Amino acid sequence: MTTLDEPHGTRGPPRTADVAGEARFTALFENAADITSIVSAEGTILQVSSSVERLGGFTPAELVGRPIYDFARPEDAVPLRRFVADACCRASATRGPPFHVRDAHGEWHALEPVAVNLLDDPAIRGLVITCRDASARLQLEARVRQMERLEAVGQLAGGIAHDFNNVLLVIRGYTSMVRSALDGSDLVADLDEIAKASDRAADLTQQLLAFARRQVLRPSVLDLGEVVSDLESLLRTSVRENVELDIELGQDACAVLADSTQLDQVLMNLVVNARDAMPDGGRIVVSVAPAVLDADADVSPPVAPGRYVALTVTDTGSGIDPSSLPYIFEPFFTTKGEGVGTGLGLSTVHGIVGQSGGGIEVGARPAGGTRMTVYLPAAEGAERPDDDIGRQPSRLPIGTETILLVEDEDAVRELVQRVLEGAGYNVLSAARPSDAQRLAIDERIHLLLTDVVMPEMSGYDLAVRIRLAHAAAQTLFISGYAHSALAETAEPPAGELLRKPFSPDQLLRAVRAVLDGEALVDVG
Ligand SMILES: Nc1ncnc2c1ncn2[C@@H]1O[C@H](COP(=O)(O)OP(=O)(O)OP(=O)(O)O)[C@@H](O)[C@H]1O
Ligand SMILES: [Mg+2]
Repeated sequence: MTTLDEPHGTRGPPRTADVAGEARFTALFENAADITSIVSAEGTILQVSSSVERLGGFTPAELVGRPIYDFARPEDAVPLRRFVADACCRASATRGPPFHVRDAHGEWHALEPVAVNLLDDPAIRGLVITCRDASARLQLEARVRQMERLEAVGQLAGGIAHDFNNVLLVIRGYTSMVRSALDGSDLVADLDEIAKASDRAADLTQQLLAFARRQVLRPSVLDLGEVVSDLESLLRTSVRENVELDIELGQDACAVLADSTQLDQVLMNLVVNARDAMPDGGRIVVSVAPAVLDADADVSPPVAPGRYVALTVTDTGSGIDPSSLPYIFEPFFTTKGEGVGTGLGLSTVHGIVGQSGGGIEVGARPAGGTRMTVYLPAAEGAERPDDDIGRQPSRLPIGTETILLVEDEDAVRELVQRVLEGAGYNVLSAARPSDAQRLAIDERIHLLLTDVVMPEMSGYDLAVRIRLAHAAAQTLFISGYAHSALAETAEPPAGELLRKPFSPDQLLRAVRAVLDGEALVDVG
């Protein structure tokens, strides 16, 4: 509790017989935004301003004569008693901790009290306690704290995931190479276990990267309604028979610019969470509709006002406990117990939505249950990417062309070189962009295969320079981490992208496709 340096007695009502003065005083007392009261040393309310009615629960007449503690949340009663006792012993004003009172609609308000001790004043004989409704400010502060926490955890998670990606790429790559060399041996089953474990680790890494908003996205303009319809049958198989799943799509176009695989993941996570909240059955409604958000929208991460498309998943389940609410977007926060949930579902959703320029609103349904709304910025005109180009999986992914490989991680570069040389390619390998430029001088380069985030120069800049000298060269970027500085720059130069961690097989298929001038579809 802090003490204000105001002299004793300056806040009391004027003791003047002047009627006009009294009327003015009453007008001030009754019309102030704050709630002013006179409370006895025992905590009984002696008088209270009618501004208390704005809280919506009580009239002054209902409050007078009752202890102030009766109206506070039970856990606030002890601090409030301590505050009153403290104020009684002080000559100066005393500031108390916020206490919470419920209004007529059942909503809690946080009131911040300041008491001035006028117990010795024969006309008052009480504490003058002024309370300010600080709910809005405290909520805002909590949101800022939550965002800062998510940001900090995100940086850590993203950094770890980035380094892990390279490590996993090497583990998976060599495992797969040794496996092909040992074909027929008893050890193959053991290697398969290593491969499975590193696949699981790669999935976790992807989720952490998604949360950190560092995934390499492949955005295209797509209709959110179509995304939902395309996934409908998979959603239906994920819910049990006792759960009814309704999909409500309007007539309006709902175009957004996003990565379709990531959106599938968002939708799947929300529906699975809804299902898990209804062990005894219930109803899930998935809907898509255009929406307009204003500056007050309570979405995380915060977004600019404007036109959005809303994807809403509601359920009739358990609802989210208010004490869990500040943490649900944090990685590894789960209420589902050891081994059941990893707590990465909503953090992944939060990252994907944030990286796509949108935000999430969490609401409780009045009848119980949860409503999660994902807002994505509306895009002009919907065109589905053509999913079928470049799908010729039967061809052997080998070749004899010259590939300029640039990657600063030694282990990754050596692995990639071995895989490519094993398939017959002529590989010029460089750890730095400057070395790569030197190597390229006297050679005919068919393909530039380069990491994106490197010291000296980004892979994007390198690609532009190499193409000046080798106009016919194709480019394939390999990256597992969308560096914010790069993600926010203008259009990357022409070139395809292979996400890390990739397997040797995925690498060879991607390289062949790009050399043959085909657009890369998911090679995974
Ligand atoms: N629709 C919902 N209804 C009730 N609680 C929910 C709902 N969605 C999320 N939650 C709460 O938020 C927590 C975090 O959700 P999140 O999806 O991140 O992790 P999880 O579902 O526990 O685990 P995972 O998704 O990794 O399997 C859940 O454990 C649950 O307590
Ligand atoms: Mg989940």
